[in-house]
Amino acid sequence: MRIDIITVSPELLASPFAHSIMKRAQDKGLLEVHLHNLRDYGLGKYKQVDDYQFGGGAGMVMMVEPLMDAIQALQKNISYDEVIYLTPDGQQLKQGISNTLSLKENLLLICGHYKGIDERIREHFVTMEISIGDYVLSGGELAAAVLVDSIGRLIPGVLGDETSALMDSFQDNLLAPPVYTRPAEINGWSVPDVLLSGNFKNIDEWRAEQAYQRTKIRRPDLLEDLEE
Ligand code: 6GU
Repeated sequence: MRIDIITVSPELLASPFAHSIMKRAQDKGLLEVHLHNLRDYGLGKYKQVDDYQFGGGAGMVMMVEPLMDAIQALQKNISYDEVIYLTPDGQQLKQGISNTLSLKENLLLICGHYKGIDERIREHFVTMEISIGDYVLSGGELAAAVLVDSIGRLIPGVLGDETSALMDSFQDNLLAPPVYTRPAEINGWSVPDVLLSGNFKNIDEWRAEQAYQRTKIRRPDLLEDLEE
């Protein structure tokens, strides 16, 4: 999979993709992330990318031309499955969206700043608008990092254990059950006996029950989704 990201702060996005699982995905050739500085498409001597909004009001708006030029330059060589604008008024990111996007070949992400981008870019280029939650970030970059991480780890071969992503919280609208590792006892705190029993049928049942109970207590809304 190839992901292109248009941003005014490529430096901000370099580090999230340079470590851990995202780095491994790229080292294995399973994921390519390309950062594009919108400033390179800025207008005039000062490489302007934003301007005052029509109708007045505080805050700058990202202009049509630099964004259009950047998008079209990329589209000349690549056919994107989705052009995604990261914005707090987009549809809220859920595991299912990441699952779907992890099956795509080419994604283009646009990070907004200031008051956002000129509506005409959204109308004529953007195919999907995604928010990562009900709070405001100062730009779309951190949201893009979240989106790419959630997609990238689902690409087949990226995680060592192919089944582990399927066991994540949210994959089946349930939170994950508690997990333990060695030692089996410390400070008098012991690991549930069933996990040490070697009886995998009982272990599976215990985990399913724990996942259900944990979800019921912490996120009953997820169980309602399940019943719909
Ligand atoms: Cl995608 N962008 C910004 N600026 N703020 C957000 C967001 C995105 N998602 C939640 N808050």
